[in-house]
Amino acid sequence: MTDIAPSQLSDHALPGKRVLVREDFNVPLSDGAVASDARIEAALPTIRTCIEGGAAVILVSHLGRPTEGDFDPEQSLAPVADHLSRALDIPVPLVRDWRGGVDVAPGGVVLLENVRFEPGEAANDDGLARALASLCDLFVMDAFATAHRAHASTHGVAKFAPAVCAGPLMAAELDALGRALEAPQRPLVAIVGGAKVSTKLELLESLAGIADRIIVGGGIANTFVLAAGNPVGASLVEPSLAETAMRIAKRVDVPLPVDVMTAPAIDANVPAVLRRPGEVGERDMILDIGPGTARAWRDGLAEAGTIIWNGPLGVFEFDQFGEGTRLIAEGVAEAEAFSIAGGGDTIAAIDKYGVREGISYISTGGGAFLEFVERGTLPAVEILKTRAR
Ligand code: 3PG
Repeated sequence: MTDIAPSQLSDHALPGKRVLVREDFNVPLSDGAVASDARIEAALPTIRTCIEGGAAVILVSHLGRPTEGDFDPEQSLAPVADHLSRALDIPVPLVRDWRGGVDVAPGGVVLLENVRFEPGEAANDDGLARALASLCDLFVMDAFATAHRAHASTHGVAKFAPAVCAGPLMAAELDALGRALEAPQRPLVAIVGGAKVSTKLELLESLAGIADRIIVGGGIANTFVLAAGNPVGASLVEPSLAETAMRIAKRVDVPLPVDVMTAPAIDANVPAVLRRPGEVGERDMILDIGPGTARAWRDGLAEAGTIIWNGPLGVFEFDQFGEGTRLIAEGVAEAEAFSIAGGGDTIAAIDKYGVREGISYISTGGGAFLEFVERGTLPAVEILKTRAR
């Protein structure tokens, strides 16, 4: 990890410069249109700053995971170009063949076609990275949500571009994460929900070293409940990680639920049944925390200095198993603490329960958010720091 900070967009003169901006426009599409524009909205201030600064703006992004070398119209960025044209109120042409150069005037914007169609993107090929770098005077890495990928458009290009910097969105993400992780206001409470301990093991281990308390939810909590000697019936659980869970619970306070909501099936028509952890039957699945647990944990959040939230507390897609996630979401939003949340399911829960306003910072990153909390840096950030030396 390099300690020097990446250079910022405000450190660079923009008039007349060709600026290549890596954004993360990996957005859901439906019927050929953008279905959720949160990532595009988050990128707009950076793009506007470049336009207003008099730069010729070339945007680059991936979408989905197409096969390199194959053009697939389903994974074209055309809907994003349309969306950007409307949002910016200027035409944003989509450029499919950019190797021979890109025609864009100062104050104008173009979007390159899905960079994952290009052979060499995922392998961080120097040839592709140099070709991208040759398009610009300044490379702006603004795609925090893709910064955990060392690809040609996120990492390699930053080796070869004449000048490089972090974009404002990237800088805001790094600031918020730094505030939560580097010198957090204590107590630092982490909320880690989701299906499996195995997918969040590195996150839990890393948080065990810095958090004062970890609230666990979903299938992850079941493994901790089992490790404490309680039955989990037919719940999603990873018995092979029970010992790991015990080891984590010895390093940091991991409160266990005092009540849980169970059902024999995950179905909209099956009601949730309240049980104490010791009373979970063989056919029961634990699908949410109970109301007593949710109230106690929510009250505890009022005392927190910092809250990091990733993952729902139950199967919140079904209302009868969503109360735990709702109450905790409200608790995070009402807390005085500096709160940061990230991950697709977490953001879906935040939107379902209408608590966006109360969260101090909502990250655009899923995998990148997790990896940053786990490791304290990301490959695409490290290369910017190296160039700032
Ligand atoms: C994301 O959606 O998390 C980023 O855009 C990264 O996408 P990827 O997992 O396909 O690299």
